[in-house]
Amino acid sequence: MAPVYWFLVFIGVWWLPLMLVGADEQQGEGCSRSANRCGNLTISNPFWLAETDAARSCGILDFKVTCYKNRSATLRSSVPLIPGFAINSISYEERSLRVVDEGKQKLLEASSGCGIKIGNTSAKLDTQFRIDLGNLNLILYNCTKESAVAAARRDSGLVQTRVRCRNEWVVFVRAGVHHDRIGNYARYAMEGCDATVVPVLGSSSGKTNASDYEQLIDDGFLLTWEDPPPPLPPAAHGRHNKKLILIGFSVCYNQLANMSSVGGAPT
Ligand SMILES: *[C@@H]1O[C@H](CO)[C@@H](O)[C@H](O)[C@H]1NC(C)=O
Ligand SMILES: *[C@@H]1O[C@H](CO)[C@@H](O)[C@H](O)[C@H]1NC(C)=O
Ligand SMILES: *[C@@H]1O[C@H](CO)[C@@H](O)[C@H](O)[C@H]1NC(C)=O
Ligand SMILES: *[C@@H]1O[C@H](CO)[C@@H](O)[C@H](O)[C@H]1NC(C)=O
Ligand SMILES: *[C@@H]1O[C@H](CO)[C@@H](O)[C@H](O)[C@H]1NC(C)=O
Ligand SMILES: *[C@@H]1O[C@H](CO)[C@@H](O)[C@H](O)[C@H]1NC(C)=O
Repeated sequence: MAPVYWFLVFIGVWWLPLMLVGADEQQGEGCSRSANRCGNLTISNPFWLAETDAARSCGILDFKVTCYKNRSATLRSSVPLIPGFAINSISYEERSLRVVDEGKQKLLEASSGCGIKIGNTSAKLDTQFRIDLGNLNLILYNCTKESAVAAARRDSGLVQTRVRCRNEWVVFVRAGVHHDRIGNYARYAMEGCDATVVPVLGSSSGKTNASDYEQLIDDGFLLTWEDPPPPLPPAAHGRHNKKLILIGFSVCYNQLANMSSVGGAPT
């Protein structure tokens, strides 16, 4: 290797920490993008941990993670005041995470369903996330009419859940409904019942049993995310200096590269 290449390597190494400092300062003040832990999860870019008290934002809101007692991590619901998603695991390589819909868990835990309203899980998902197509779905039917309840009880594909409000309505569940890309579940509609769709993990056998609805909801489902576009650098004071330094560096680098190609062809 020609000596000038060693020189390039040398200044490359020398400049690296400076460049990293530059990148680091693009985050909000006091925000750390370095990996942190919550329980046994590693929370790192694009996710960020919300400080317990501060309303300060350290990134895209969709990726805000709240950590409770350094044990459980949750992702917010895009609908205000509605429970979000508990995070069970994150795969940064596959850009996917396994989450549990906490609203559905609360629904199942409630001693009486009166006053609770079921919503579609997809409706409270932030825009950066997609429900993985490999999930199967449960369909929860909130049946109000007596005739509809009777029809649901006769349907061998449905299981009656514990969720009900006196004689006003009863919730039934169907399992093993494949995920529909455009969210069209019209063929599963039942007269006299409101249908909501809840994704769950498909089992290895590709089958799920509606009787296991509580376990299925507790096991969660798979979400994928898209990497957000790189943040726009804020026009903060002092940043120009760094830019100039970086420009200066690249000019210098190019000139050295030209010198070296004059001095001899690289191999
Ligand atoms: C959780 O505990 C680990 C290990 O003690 C620590 O490194 C981490 O910073 C803690 N996370 C939070 C959010 O407090
Ligand atoms: C992480 O912690 C959760 C809850 O504390 C536990 O259910 C889960 O099995 C743990 N996962 C791993 C990979 O240890
Ligand atoms: C079921 O439907 C009734 C009538 O529309 C509604 O009042 C109730 O909140 C619903 N229950 C759930 C769990 O969504
Ligand atoms: C839930 O989604 C289904 C299927 O897309 C739709 O028919 C239903 O109206 C939705 N329910 C609510 C409460 O938005
Ligand atoms: C589903 O589970 C219930 C209760 O464990 C069982 O009685 C039923 O046969 C199962 N259904 C199927 C299709 O495996
Ligand atoms: C390096 O050489 C190329 C062509 O040989 C030239 O276009 C370029 O302007 C030179 N760069 C510098 C920084 O001198």
